[in-house]
Amino acid sequence: MKPLILALALVLAVPVSPASAHPGPGHHPRPAKDLRQLAQQLHIKIGSAVDIASLRDEPMYRTTLNREFNHVTAENAMKWESVEPERGVYTWDDADALVENARRNHQQIRGHTLLWHNQLPAWLTSGVEDGSIDATELREILRDHITTQVRRYKGKIRAWDVVNEVVEEDGSMRQSIWLTHLGPGYIADAFRWAHKADPHAKLFINDYNLEWNAPKIETTLNIVKDLKAKRVPIHGIGFQGHLGIQYDYPGDWANVMQRFADLGLEVAVTELDVRMVLPVTPEKLATQADYYRRALTDCLSVRACRELTVWGFTDLHSWVPGWFDGEGAATLLDENYAPKPAYGALLSVKGRK
Ligand code: XIL
Repeated sequence: MKPLILALALVLAVPVSPASAHPGPGHHPRPAKDLRQLAQQLHIKIGSAVDIASLRDEPMYRTTLNREFNHVTAENAMKWESVEPERGVYTWDDADALVENARRNHQQIRGHTLLWHNQLPAWLTSGVEDGSIDATELREILRDHITTQVRRYKGKIRAWDVVNEVVEEDGSMRQSIWLTHLGPGYIADAFRWAHKADPHAKLFINDYNLEWNAPKIETTLNIVKDLKAKRVPIHGIGFQGHLGIQYDYPGDWANVMQRFADLGLEVAVTELDVRMVLPVTPEKLATQADYYRRALTDCLSVRACRELTVWGFTDLHSWVPGWFDGEGAATLLDENYAPKPAYGALLSVKGRK
């Protein structure tokens, strides 16, 4: 037989199974061609952090973002120092650009973040430090900030990271200006103010190392229980998911997610990346692929997990080399936007069990 005829004969010999002729829920005979299609098949949101300068200036960045993701988070553009660099002077251009790009490309948005101890404007930190801003005024400033920002994007932001990183590694409350000047009640206040400004937005508490750090997990669970008991509007838990292959994969993560889900919270992976000690090797890329695949699989194993967002999608623009000495290559695509094994590993993930 000629090769072509042989191939045809083989194709015709394969019976068409009823399952592939009539795919029911959970059956996806055709592998997804990109992350957006995967998100659709899995019924979750797959997002990325967005660098606004790259979005504006680099067609390749823009095209890839809009092709691959149905959810976006501003990497920096919605942080306090970005939106109010001078007291009372708001600069919304970058944040607006993200929101407008998302609207045009049918992407939902995670607002990041209303209250944090980092990337605060200098006028605020120095005012608190030199005593020119007292506790009463600080509370008003925080209320105004949250109200102004949430109102501006009312109806446009699916979920807000209301408070970010409020627990220390040892499980104590973080010694930020918020805790030391306003007392622990600032967390409930922040959620109440955000809810008032946009009653439909889902309000999250977000943190790192929450995938595995027991003291942090217990304290955060207690914060949520306490807020719920006080009927404070809190709707979700964000696991940042900044992982590194030089550490074991957090094998208990799905259980931790479930414990928060059991309190009635939506679960999201909000900043996933998987860094490695450079140089890159094929073995390290294979391990990285496995970590990405497991993170998505863990999310899918918990019904309440509805969003997986990566903290950047190309090694060309990633915070990792600038923040972790000698480490990098943490994202799904390399510096030339070529897919790494991790990208294929995500595409291969099948639906919820
Ligand atoms: C990082 C950004 O990626 C960097 O560009 C910036 O210089 C510092 O912040 N946890 C968070 C994110 O919640 O906001 C941080 O983003 C990464 C760690």
